[in-house]
Amino acid sequence: MPQAVLHFPAGFLWGTATASQQVEGANTNNNWAAWEQTPGHIHNDERAGLACDWWGGRWKEDFDRAAETGQNAHRLSIEWSRVHPTPDRWDEHALDVYREMLRGLVSRNMTPMVTLHHFSEPLWLVERGGWENDEAPALFAAYAAKVVEALKEYTNLWITINEPNVYTYSGWLNGGFPPGKNDLGLAFKVLANLLRAHTAAYAVIHRLQPQARVGVAHHLRGFVPARPGFAPDGWMASILSNNFNFAFPNALTTGKLNFAFRSAAVPEARGTQDFLGINYYTADQVTFAPLAFKDFFTRRAYDPAAALSETGFIASVPTQFFRFLKWAKGFNLPILITENGAEDSRDHFRPAYLAEHIHQVWRAINFNWPIKGYFVWSLVDNFEWERGWSQRFGLWGLDTATQARIRRPSVDLYAAVCKENALSS
Ligand code: NOJ
Repeated sequence: MPQAVLHFPAGFLWGTATASQQVEGANTNNNWAAWEQTPGHIHNDERAGLACDWWGGRWKEDFDRAAETGQNAHRLSIEWSRVHPTPDRWDEHALDVYREMLRGLVSRNMTPMVTLHHFSEPLWLVERGGWENDEAPALFAAYAAKVVEALKEYTNLWITINEPNVYTYSGWLNGGFPPGKNDLGLAFKVLANLLRAHTAAYAVIHRLQPQARVGVAHHLRGFVPARPGFAPDGWMASILSNNFNFAFPNALTTGKLNFAFRSAAVPEARGTQDFLGINYYTADQVTFAPLAFKDFFTRRAYDPAAALSETGFIASVPTQFFRFLKWAKGFNLPILITENGAEDSRDHFRPAYLAEHIHQVWRAINFNWPIKGYFVWSLVDNFEWERGWSQRFGLWGLDTATQARIRRPSVDLYAAVCKENALSS
């Protein structure tokens, strides 16, 4: 069989993504530091601990690895609790460290993309009710202003909030994330406040940096009817999708948040994204289940024919990824794949998973859909939230006892893609 070489447009961004709480280590002043103190909250009661020790300076060796293997971009997040540790104090030293990190990327010819909120916030805010507090959006905008002033010399690519839907669902519906609640009314309030926070930060960022490009990293999960000819499965799949996937991105176009049979008008949200950020991992088959009240009248399972990741957390369903890319082009905005990847400590599943999903990006670009970059989650194994260290998403593995990095075969696959700006199949 002759080999095909699938080329990407010049200037395409190839990178990996990380988040402060997952890689920095020694974060003692945020919601997760408090949450991990209670037994049962984290898999095996594990701790983030030193994580990948980026706060100790190991970001340098990891950025070297990324640059040496052809990556030309990196998405990282700023830890709000470091920059604004108490209500009356901003930490200039923390901002210096982030400045050095971004300078480190630029000096390695990598484009930095900066996330302002990636699932973590300062304890003082949590004590004031966190995102349930209607003052949170203004507090977030003040934090955004501080960060943008400090870092705008090095980047103009900003993500305000990572996965507002997952954050709301996990913290206020399924209870796996702090604050561990199960309350639909509060979930709606939090999602609306995240929307207001994004909107306020969007305005602040553009005021401080007119050439800024600002977006949200939207998590999109495929919901496919389990029995295609059976209408109720289709209805449930589209109800899930409209609420979980599309409520937030649609609000950025319409100025109206419709979620869980509730509605809020946030007219100033209209037009507040300069690109569409997409985090895509997997898809469920959805079955209508009238008695499953707690599970929103559905049963969800993976397609038995789909390949499964190591811990069964991700089924490879690249066709759903393509469908989301098609949906995304309807926004008439540039599209960035801000996360895609799989947990796989043995790297048996990941190489094919990455190749299949990168292939879909290539297909979409061939239809002239405006996809400008792709970021693998993640550069190196890191602290996977309530699942602790049990899931390994890194191109490089991590030995948490020694901080040694272990190069996985996927590194070679991704390096070839990045260096050639092409996928060979
Ligand atoms: C999306 C989240 O943004 C990230 O923090 C997480 O580690 C990955 N999904 C993998 O679950």
